[in-house]
Amino acid sequence: MRQLKPNVYAVGAIDWDARLFDRLIPLPDGTSYNSYLVRGTEKTALLDTVDPAKTDLLLGNIVCAGVDKLDYIVANHAEQDHSGSLPDVLLLYPNAKVVTNPKCKEMLKGLLGLEDEKFIAVEDGQELSLGDKTLKFVYTPWVHWPETMSTYVPEEKILFSCDFFGSHLATSSLFVDDEAAVYESAKRYYAEIMMPFRRQINANLAKLDELEIEIIAPSHGPVYDRPEFIIDAYKDWASDNVKNEVVVAYVSMHGSTGKMVLHFVEALIERGIKTRQFELATVDIGKLAMALVDAATIVIGSPTVLVGPHPCAAYAAFLANALRPKTKFASIIGSYGWGGKMVEQLSAMIPNIKAEILEPVLAKGEPKEADYAALDRLADDILTKHKENGITN
Ligand code: FEO
Repeated sequence: MRQLKPNVYAVGAIDWDARLFDRLIPLPDGTSYNSYLVRGTEKTALLDTVDPAKTDLLLGNIVCAGVDKLDYIVANHAEQDHSGSLPDVLLLYPNAKVVTNPKCKEMLKGLLGLEDEKFIAVEDGQELSLGDKTLKFVYTPWVHWPETMSTYVPEEKILFSCDFFGSHLATSSLFVDDEAAVYESAKRYYAEIMMPFRRQINANLAKLDELEIEIIAPSHGPVYDRPEFIIDAYKDWASDNVKNEVVVAYVSMHGSTGKMVLHFVEALIERGIKTRQFELATVDIGKLAMALVDAATIVIGSPTVLVGPHPCAAYAAFLANALRPKTKFASIIGSYGWGGKMVEQLSAMIPNIKAEILEPVLAKGEPKEADYAALDRLADDILTKHKENGITN
């Protein structure tokens, strides 16, 4: 249990050993499930709970804090890494009410089997007094589920934002003490979790501008006591601006596509374009997602397998399509033995990426001189497109 401000405590759990979230997302630095205790002169509230695997830690922290009566459990988000301990907290404090918005209430009833009478449903902007402290509920939908909201304590100027502004980072520091490290983790988190909801994030950022915020306490990672650090980062990531960067995500079986990628990446570098190359059979998908936050262009490299793309390339295309990056241009390079529909199939897999498709380059077997020339032409096209659109840094 650690104190953010007088009578405001962090009572959640650090998960140092977690390495995969949702059986999908790599967690190279672990994570935390933050839960906060706010004690007013009249009432006590717990803000979010923790992943069910860490329930014992949460309950231990609450008991250590000397909470003999818990009045409210605020659920900012229904996903189980924040709500999963709710039933156990309610067993310990059966008179506590779960405070949340109507959408989240219905989700919690479905996910956790909680009964209707356990809830107090609150509207956007509604306030709940704890005595000398107030909980103000601010709907911040789609970060990253439709029911997500934040809770603001005006007396302390703290925003409890749940997943919004979070980072998968296990650290013993309650507050951010290494902004470079947290920037990396928070950007990875944004890329994997938030990027598909860029438009809604911008609307939520505008809404939060109306609040005076001194501390942002998310439900993953350290607490921000310099909130402009993470707010400015989000404004940058969620903006329409892209950078003079190309992501080359490829897989090669017998080396032909690999040779094309080697030549192509060199050609991009020679033209002054920042380039990131990812080998898809071994890639950390979080790193790939992060690169897609800013890149103006993505190029997928794949051999032809059973008429279509290599499954690793198809996976990357599926993932990129789901993450909806603001990428402006896309293309495909690769090789084939006797023909196929690799380009058509890959192109059809990325309808959410509103990118102009630049002419692909396909080599029959080993790339020849004409294929290398075509790759140079694609690098020229990318440079021209970037310049024409003012994408120079
Ligand atoms: Fe951290 Fe959407 O749960």
